[in-house]
Amino acid sequence: MSDPRPCLFSDDQVNVELLRQRAYNGRWAMQPAGVIPLTAADPDFPVAPEIRAAITDYVAGGYLSYGSPEGLPEFREIMAATIGSRKRIPVSPGLILPTNSAAAAMFLVARYALAPGDEAILFDPVDFLFGAAVDAAGGRRVYSPVDKAQGQFDLDGLAALITPRTRLLCLCNPHNPLGRVLRQDELAALGELAVEHDLTIMSDEIWSDVVYPPHEHTSIASLDAGIAARTISIYGLSKSHGLAGLRVGFLAAPDPKTFDALVDLSRVQTTAEGVSTLSQVAAVVAYRDCWYWVDALLQHLTAVRDYAVARLNAMPGVRCTSPEGTYVLFPDVTGTGMSSAQAASYLLEEAHVAVVPGLPRWFGPGAEGNIRLCFSTSMGIVRTALDRMEQALARRNSQ
Ligand SMILES: Cc1ncc(COP(=O)(O)O)c(C=O)c1O
Repeated sequence: MSDPRPCLFSDDQVNVELLRQRAYNGRWAMQPAGVIPLTAADPDFPVAPEIRAAITDYVAGGYLSYGSPEGLPEFREIMAATIGSRKRIPVSPGLILPTNSAAAAMFLVARYALAPGDEAILFDPVDFLFGAAVDAAGGRRVYSPVDKAQGQFDLDGLAALITPRTRLLCLCNPHNPLGRVLRQDELAALGELAVEHDLTIMSDEIWSDVVYPPHEHTSIASLDAGIAARTISIYGLSKSHGLAGLRVGFLAAPDPKTFDALVDLSRVQTTAEGVSTLSQVAAVVAYRDCWYWVDALLQHLTAVRDYAVARLNAMPGVRCTSPEGTYVLFPDVTGTGMSSAQAASYLLEEAHVAVVPGLPRWFGPGAEGNIRLCFSTSMGIVRTALDRMEQALARRNSQ
C-alpha cells in the first residue's frame, strides 16, 4: 500500500515566496532576489502540522496569561522524559529550565560559570555563539584547535591549556561547523579533565537529533555521575523541528543548587525574561508527537548530504568531508586560491549563492580556508545552487 501522507520534504514543499518574507538571520528575507541563501542553519520546510494545530488551538482558547516563570509543567515534564529516553540523562522535570533559544541558554551558562577574567576553553573552529557567550560574561576565550581535515580533537593539547583561571569547558556535540559527532572515548577523556580541574561543562547538544546512522550521539552527562554533576546540557528546537522563530530551547541542570542559581541569573522570576507560552506549547507538541517528522527530515537530509558532498568534491579546488551530524558542510576551498572571504564574495557575485565565510567572527581563527553551507532545503534548490557554484568556479579556472 502506498503511504497516504504527502511527501513532507519534496521540492514543492519549499515556499520561497513566504520564506522571502519570513526567513531572516542571513537567509531568504535578507538576500537580494535570485540569491540562494545556504547561510544560517534552519530548515526551509514548513513545521509539522501537529505544531501548527497546537498553536492555533491554544490561541482559540482565548487566554494568553502569564506562564510559570520556570516553565509550563507540561513543558518541563516532556523535556525531562525525552532527555531521559533519547539522551540517557536521568533528569527530573524540576531541573529543566526553558530558555529563549539554545543561544540564550549558552549565554546564561557562561554567566553562571565565569567571573570576569575567568577562562573558558572552546574548540576552534566552532560556532560563533560560544565565543560571544564567553565574551558577554567577561570571560577569556581559550581556543583548542581541531584538525579540520581529520576532525581530530587534540585532547593532550587541550589539557595543556588549563590554568588555575579555567572554569568552563564548552562542547558542541554534534559539532557545528565540522559536522563531527564526538566519540564516547573523547567525551570520557574530556569529562575526566573537567572532573580533575573542577570545570563546569557546557554541553550544547542542539544538533543531537540530526545525526546520520551509523553514527550515534552520546551525551557527556550520560557517561557517569561525576561528569554529570558538573554538566549543564543545552537543547533547542530550531534545528530539529524548525522552530527558530519561536525562540525556544531549554537546559538541563545537574542538581537543584545549580538550577536555582541559573534561575536567579536568568531573571525569569522578575518576569523580565521567560519563554512565551505559545513557544512552549509548540515545543511540547514537537517533543510529544513529531519525531516522525524529524525522522523523515533526516532521511531527506541524508540524500541531500550525499549528493552535495559528491558534487562539491568534483569541483576544482574544493574538498569536503561528509558530516556525521548537523546539516552544514564545511568545505576547504584553499585549492581555489581564494581566501574564505574571497570565495564567499565570489560565489555571491558570480553564482548568486550566499554561504558563510570561515572568518574568525563566525567560527574562530581556525576557520580560514573553509566556507560553510547549510543544506536543509529541497534537493532542487541544492542542485541549482551547486550547478551555479560549479559553473562559476569553472569560469574562474578558464580565465
Ligand atoms: C551549536 C549551536 N548552538 C546554538 C545555536 C542557536 O540555536 P537557537 O536558535 O536555539 O538559539 C546554533 C545555531 O546555529 C548552533 O549551531
